[in-house]
Amino acid sequence: MGEWQKSGWRERPRVQMPDYTDRDALGAVEAKLSKYPPLVFAGEARRLKAELGAAAQGKAFLLQGGDCAESFAEFSGDNIRDTFKVMLQMAMVLTYGAKVPVVKVGRMAGQFAKPRSAPTEVKGDQELPSYRGDIVNELDFTPGARIPDPARMLQAYTQSAATLNLLRAFSTGGFADVHHVHSWTLGFTERDEAERYRDMAERIQDTIDFMAAAGMTADTSHELSTVDFYTSHEALLLEYEEALTRVDSTSGRWVAGSGHMIWIGDRTRQPDGAHVEFCRGVLNPIGLKCGPTTTAEDLKVLMAKLNPDNEAGRLTLIARFGAGSVGEHLPRLIKAVREEGANVLWSCDPMHGNTIKAASGYKTRPFESVLREVQEFFAVHKSEGTIPGGVHFEMTGQDVTECTGGVRAVSDEDLSDRYHTACDPRLNASQSLELAFLVAEELSSRRAEALATAV
Ligand code: PEP
Ligand code: CO
Repeated sequence: MGEWQKSGWRERPRVQMPDYTDRDALGAVEAKLSKYPPLVFAGEARRLKAELGAAAQGKAFLLQGGDCAESFAEFSGDNIRDTFKVMLQMAMVLTYGAKVPVVKVGRMAGQFAKPRSAPTEVKGDQELPSYRGDIVNELDFTPGARIPDPARMLQAYTQSAATLNLLRAFSTGGFADVHHVHSWTLGFTERDEAERYRDMAERIQDTIDFMAAAGMTADTSHELSTVDFYTSHEALLLEYEEALTRVDSTSGRWVAGSGHMIWIGDRTRQPDGAHVEFCRGVLNPIGLKCGPTTTAEDLKVLMAKLNPDNEAGRLTLIARFGAGSVGEHLPRLIKAVREEGANVLWSCDPMHGNTIKAASGYKTRPFESVLREVQEFFAVHKSEGTIPGGVHFEMTGQDVTECTGGVRAVSDEDLSDRYHTACDPRLNASQSLELAFLVAEELSSRRAEALATAV
């Protein structure tokens, strides 16, 4: 494969990337970004890798979630806080059910570039280039808005830096302190999963009080009062990724400085393509989306390229087949992993295989399908004797109406009420929490079975 270079991807076929017409403007932006500070530090990426390695063995569980596409328009402290808060609530529910640490990774602080199913979009008799995420062009349906503008990379960088700064402040500044597990319920309106959350919060509070009374706070106070929260995004816009790639001074290896974890999408995983070439050379944990068209052969080549040393936590396979299709596809890919003796973490993305168009014309995802895919994922791992190590959701802390269903049933007609996503439909706060309870049930029944067989 030869010596890896951060610009080596430029020699490979690329898909889903914009053609910038103003090469000078592009070059100037790349030059600027390459002098800017990286957003993350290699030591953090290495720590995340170790935690994902534990998840691959069932000793931790990965919760990855956030926007389909972050946007410049929806950027606000409140939005960041609310998504962070829902992720903490979900993590609490999962920790409580699984009795293992939950590794929290946001689709945040860099999740801007989007692959699209078609290069152009047609409205009436007008055809324009597709919107490719705020880091590339604008959502407005006008010719000018859809021209890729490299300067948008600088704004995406700035927004990512500010987002990460707030996430770091929330993680360690007191907001994430478990002693406040009750206050995270503020903003809940009365509903089933809020009740369940409150019950659980009360039991956690009891445990904390018990520990305090028994004098057990000293050693654990740091663990209880802060969280580790990591960032991730699809490494799609390679000019941006390359410009933020740095040498890690500790190991001399390359690290993508744009986020802790990066992933390769279902449309850009060509084994000889530009995206795989870029990702194979950086030390960060890498995610690889696996869809119905992923062949066992390709997967074997990809695993060898992306994780040649078979390092624990390096590679997360994110299964996204669609409800009703997991049984057809996951076993054959598990077999490929087994044949190679590959070390991978299996995670479930129950969003991208379940997108449909509602009668109203809105892109949506039925909550029932999302739930069903998660259940199928757990069932296949159970019958294969492998480990379901994580979940990957498109979600927001906002009370949006983008996915149908859930306990507070969003109907097809409701979609137009609060449909704010710039790209795919997201679970709202209530649906996210409901899903976390379901995953926690799956995890605790797995744990009960494991304990029963151990006896
Ligand atoms: C995404 O995660 O937003 C995405 C586009 O997913 P996939 O590559 O699996 O379709
Ligand atoms: Co999406």
